[in-house]
Amino acid sequence: MKHATRLVRAARGARRRARAPFSGFKVGAAIETIDGTIVTGCNIENASYGLTMCAERVAMFKALSEGHRRFRRIVVVADTAAPTPPCGACRQILWEFGGDLEVILANLRRVTGRMRLGELLPLPFDARLL
Ligand code: THU
Repeated sequence: MKHATRLVRAARGARRRARAPFSGFKVGAAIETIDGTIVTGCNIENASYGLTMCAERVAMFKALSEGHRRFRRIVVVADTAAPTPPCGACRQILWEFGGDLEVILANLRRVTGRMRLGELLPLPFDARLL
């Protein structure tokens, strides 16, 4: 398994750019494409709370909009002792556009969890079922 140091560092950097004045909960994400490109995201909240976008989806949508199509893994960083896994909405989006990614969870000091997206979303709904 390739070392994730660079990816973790990128996610921590993205977290510093989070716009989270309402929850105070800053999250950073970094997706690695199949060719090693790193695309980052942070959570972005606004006054109409329900429009909030999580770091993972920002990263994935940025990557897609830049033309990336195949992904290897994603790092999610929050400043918490317990791992912060992607929410349900993000699991769906990551699955549909990234497939069975490796998901690496980290905080500001260390990696706190590693799993596959398929473990987080064991019976996915996707286009194959339409
Ligand atoms: N959030 C993320 O960005 N990613 C996660 O994996 C969990 C939750 C954000 C959404 C919201 O801005 C804040 O964290 C609190 O839920």
